[in-house]
This record gives sequence, C-alpha cells and structure tokens, in this order.
Amino acid sequence: MIETRQLIHPERPIFEHGAEGRSGASLPELDVPAIDAQKHFGKLARVTLAALPEVSEVEVTRHFTRLSRWNYAIDLGLYPLGSCTMKYNPKVNERVARMPGFAGVHPQQPESTLQGALEIMWRLERVLCELGGFRRVALQPAAGAQGELCGVMMIAAHHQSQGRAPSKVLIPDSAHGTNPASCTLSSYTTVPLKTGETGIVSVDTVAQACAENPGDIAAIMMTNPSTLGLFETDLGKIAEVVHAAGGLVYMDGANFNALLGKVRPAETGVDVMHINLHKTFTTPHGGGGPGAGVVGVGATLEPYLPTPTVEKEGDRYFLDYRRAKSIGRLRSFFGNFGMFVRAYTYMRELGGPGLTLATEMAVLNANYIRARLKDVYSLAYEAPSMHEVVFTDRKLKRETSVQTLDVAKRLMDYGYHPPTIYFPLPAVTGGAGALMIEPTETETKETLDDFCDALRAIADEAKRDAEMVKQAPHQTALGRLDETRAARQPILRWRAK
Ligand SMILES: Cc1ncc(COP(=O)(O)O)c(C=O)c1O
Repeated sequence: MIETRQLIHPERPIFEHGAEGRSGASLPELDVPAIDAQKHFGKLARVTLAALPEVSEVEVTRHFTRLSRWNYAIDLGLYPLGSCTMKYNPKVNERVARMPGFAGVHPQQPESTLQGALEIMWRLERVLCELGGFRRVALQPAAGAQGELCGVMMIAAHHQSQGRAPSKVLIPDSAHGTNPASCTLSSYTTVPLKTGETGIVSVDTVAQACAENPGDIAAIMMTNPSTLGLFETDLGKIAEVVHAAGGLVYMDGANFNALLGKVRPAETGVDVMHINLHKTFTTPHGGGGPGAGVVGVGATLEPYLPTPTVEKEGDRYFLDYRRAKSIGRLRSFFGNFGMFVRAYTYMRELGGPGLTLATEMAVLNANYIRARLKDVYSLAYEAPSMHEVVFTDRKLKRETSVQTLDVAKRLMDYGYHPPTIYFPLPAVTGGAGALMIEPTETETKETLDDFCDALRAIADEAKRDAEMVKQAPHQTALGRLDETRAARQPILRWRAK
C-alpha cells in the first residue's frame, strides 16, 4: 500500500522538484530603468541569489494542491484540540468581514469616512463590557498573549502611580504558558501556585503565597475556566485575599466561551481580563492568522488603557489619543479590524440568549464526551468539566503500554485531528500523558458519538494489538514521524546558492 501511495503522491519536497533555469512565470521585458540594488540598499541588498526552487507552473500547482489535500481543517471534520477552541466559523461572519466597505477600509482615511468602522468597534466594546461586567475594553491587542502583556503593563502602571513596585505575580501551575511569559516580559518574577489533587486553586495556597511575599505581590493571574477545563470556584475569595495584600486580579479569559451569560468576571473581583475573540466569538484561529486579544478593565485600570480608544460624542465616533496615563500604543492603528467585524456579526447573529446557549452547548458537549469515555480513559480531575475535558493515559498505559501520543496518531487513521496531548499536567497525575479534548458547541451529538466510538475502538485495539497502535498512523500520507528529530534537525535546504 505504501508503494502505491508513493507512486501517486511523490513525497519529495518542493526543493527536489524542478531544474536550474526552469520558471513558472513569464514576466514581460523590463520597461523601466533597472536600478542598482547595492547603491540603493547598501548592505541590505542581496549579493547571492536565494536558492528558491526553480519549478514550472504545473509542478508548483500540483505541489500545493497535494499538500492541501493532506491537510486537515475545521471545515472537514471535528477539530478537538483542547485549549485552542477550534470551532466552526459560520460563513456569514466571513461574508460580512469581506464586504468591500469593511475589507477595503484604510486606517489612514479621514475619521469622517470611518464612522461605520468606528461604530462597529464602539458597539463591540459595549457588548464585551456587558458580558464581562467591565467599564472599558481595549480592542487593540492582536492576540491573547498580547492582551496579557497589555493587562500586566496596566497593572505595573497602576502600582507605579501608587509609588509601589511589587515584583511578583502569582500563577497557578495549571496556567497557559503565555501567562508566565507575559509577566517575565514585564520584568515580574512569577510565583507558581500548586493546584494539587483537585486541579483547583485554593484560597489557602494563595493566602500562604501572599504571606510569604509581604508587600511584594503585584497580581495574581488566574485562568478561568482553567486550562484543565475546571471552574475556579474560589476566585471571588481569592480576589479578596490578593486585594488585601495590595495586588490586583488578572483573569485570563481566553476560555470565556464557557462563561458567556453565566458569569461576569468583574463581579467576582477581577480587575483585568483578556478575551480571545478568536476562541470565544468564532473568528478563525490558528496558523498564525490574526486574532484579537481584547482586554476588559474595571475602574482601577481604566486610566491606563492603551490608545487610541473609540469614543462617541453625539452622533460622531472618534479615536481618542489623549489619555495622559495610557500605557501607549500596542498595535499599529486600531487592531485587527476584520476580527472585530466577525465577532460582532456572531454576537448579533446569536443575540444574548444565543450566546448563553453556545456556552451551555460547549459545556454540555465536553461533559458528554467525558461521560462516554471515562470508563476507558482515566479522568484527570473529578471536578465537572467546563468547555474541555482532560483524560490521562494512566490506566491505558499500565494495561497496554499504549500512550497518549499513540492514541493521537491512531485517531488520524480514523479521520480526526488529534486532541492536544503535550500539556504539562500538574504533578498530581504522576507524569501521565494528557488527552485534552475541546469539542466546542458547534458539533452535533452524532459527530461526538462517532468521535467517542473511534476513541473507544482505539482503546480496544490497544488491548488486542498494542504494536499496531504504536506504529500508527497507517493511512495518512506520511507515517509516524520522528518529531524530536524534526524539531532539532530541521531540513535546511533553502540555502543561498
Ligand atoms: C488560556 C489561554 N491563555 C492565553 C492564550 C494565548 O492566546 P493567543 O494564542 O491568542 O496568543 C491561549 C491560547 O489559546 C489560552 O488557551
């Protein structure tokens, strides 16, 4: 079978196609004077040609068409990648974002001709304020991680304005990796908090950390629901403890799709929170594409919002750059505008009750998978799941030696994108591998059943023929890859000639 496949799909990289001097483009004769690149660009001018593949049009077309057919996409099937919220994006969002008036808008147009765009941003901010309980929301940050940086910078600005310089941020061991990174970028030291057997941050752990670092706590940064898919039940009390210690409360709200219409974080003592529009409000996610990590704040941090903000005076919308205490600009112009249009369309399409229903369905779907698989895969935590469910391979590995990586690879043979597996579960799981599954609200019961059937079938196969599962995938364009080698020894064929 493998030979046949190789005949149909030669697996040679593009660098091994083509021949010297071959070209896929026919450019007209130069009809302007040639310029001397060295003279114009000095050291920046290339002196040797880049070793680009020299291929014909048909070679390049077939190469990329073949790659696209090996690819997996949310429009092809369930994409259960935990912590990423890869949900189906209703096409109406795309259609609206591509309307010429939105797609063609230029940020340097005079403000009087940008009124529609500014109104969308203004309205989006109002909806986000309503959902989160915040006074203002900064739309500028281009991704969740940049939203975190924005929030942490505002926290630092606040302490500075009080004549304080606390140096530490408390971060639970269940946090997304971007959380400590954002704090470190802002020159804070992070203090890890152990979540223990429950997976949930306890008030006592926080109180102890505050007591051990008197006067030195700038903030706590807590993801809710956490990256373990658990609701942080004590967040309100934790906020009181941190505030009493002089710190502020940052909630990583990247998983806000589990809370819409249920919890207003600001009402639980949260001072600042980012929301990933590209996770909660169905703007496309992944592949390095643009996102929007908008940041909501309460009264304490409002003066430090990045500029510009969108304001309204009478019927006129305008960009306000005059915020004396602002942390400044984080992103060129006013952020990823296309993402705002998509998110706002989604909100208007669903309305308040629809958004709440989306949350309920996301949580229900995760718990359905939990119920259907918990006798076969081990549950990482007993607390009910929110938008995602985390299993471990503890039992499976003990009984069959098959691990989560093998399960993920075998799932590809069943036609699914694997769930997240490389997630550093806090120590409580004893180093077991994780299967972190986030089905999202957009999947039907039938799809979830098929997916659970596949995972159950793999657990059966592991008992009957563990070796076969360990060699998976068998039906994909490429078999099992040496991922460590791929990361450590990338193929460097693109060298200057
Ligand atoms: C909990 C959490 N925080 C932060 C982020 C970072 O968001 P982004 O990838 O947009 O930078 C993510 C990403 O999915 C996340 O799951």
